[in-house]
Amino acid sequence: MKEYHHRLPHNIQFLKTRTAYVIILLLTYAFGYFSAYHYRAPSQQTPLTPPLRAVKCAIDSFRVTTRCGDVVPAELIRKTVIDRIFNGTSPYIDFPPNHAGKFLREKRIKGWGSNGAVFDNLIRRVKPKTIVEIGSFLGASAIHMANLTRRLGLTETQILCVDDFRGWPGFRDRFKDVALVNGDVLLLYQFMQNVVSSGFAGTILPVPFSTGSGLEKLCEWGVKADLVEIDAGHDFNSAWADINRAVRILRPGGVLFGHDYFTAADNRGVRRAVNLFAEINRLKVKTDGQHWVLDSVNVN
Ligand SMILES: C[S@@+](CC[C@H](N)C(=O)[O-])C[C@H]1O[C@@H](n2cnc3c(N)ncnc32)[C@H](O)[C@@H]1O
Repeated sequence: MKEYHHRLPHNIQFLKTRTAYVIILLLTYAFGYFSAYHYRAPSQQTPLTPPLRAVKCAIDSFRVTTRCGDVVPAELIRKTVIDRIFNGTSPYIDFPPNHAGKFLREKRIKGWGSNGAVFDNLIRRVKPKTIVEIGSFLGASAIHMANLTRRLGLTETQILCVDDFRGWPGFRDRFKDVALVNGDVLLLYQFMQNVVSSGFAGTILPVPFSTGSGLEKLCEWGVKADLVEIDAGHDFNSAWADINRAVRILRPGGVLFGHDYFTAADNRGVRRAVNLFAEINRLKVKTDGQHWVLDSVNVN
């Protein structure tokens, strides 16, 4: 070490002093500070081209990791769902429970476009054995579909309703009569009460989970539907994820459809998601009233 110091050129001998170390330390710190300050924000990078943006958006917002299970025959779907979700006992047995019955109305049904002609048109044409509805709320559209299948003599048809039955923050401003018990809104029970009062406990089953986990599990359990209706979250990411998950539980050639294709806000949400999905998969979007329809889907 000593020898090394001796070999330093005369004009930088000062590096041996403590002051020099302090100066070097300060310079390093200042260099770091200013280089961070002049860092360019990503927003100033060259923008992606529209096709790349579309692909990036498609890949970023939806990833599938699970494989769908072997297909369960239509006549075993009800049993499969009751076994997997309700420990083998129909949720309608001994319904309503004592603690909740007094809060429920005999029938409290309200939906949006729930009786549209699209339901009649599709059910007549497809004659579905299995329908999955994503977003059911108080059961208006599910009960309408059950009425249609009964009228058409499709006595075996099962309708599975995937909904977390939480509604959305603030929904009780308009639905004060849906009770809140210790912070728990009784939407699932009121949905079930509506189903029971309408005489469809043998046709309609709730799948009371988020659309993400509910659809993933139906796929894992081998449930396939002939018709899937989507009417849950209406923002782009929700609609996009629901469509991409729903298509995995659709039998080849089945029909995917959903509500709110035309509202102004849905140009950024539902409509954008439906159009992007159709474009990527080379499908044609048809409309029927406020609903969008994708026919003969073969995407898996
Ligand atoms: C517009 S309502 C459905 C109306 C129903 N299709 C009708 O016409 O009678 C939307 C429903 O989607 C459900 N929902 C929204 N986002 C959800 C999510 N991520 N997971 C589960 N359910 C969801 C809400 O709880 C609500 O009941």
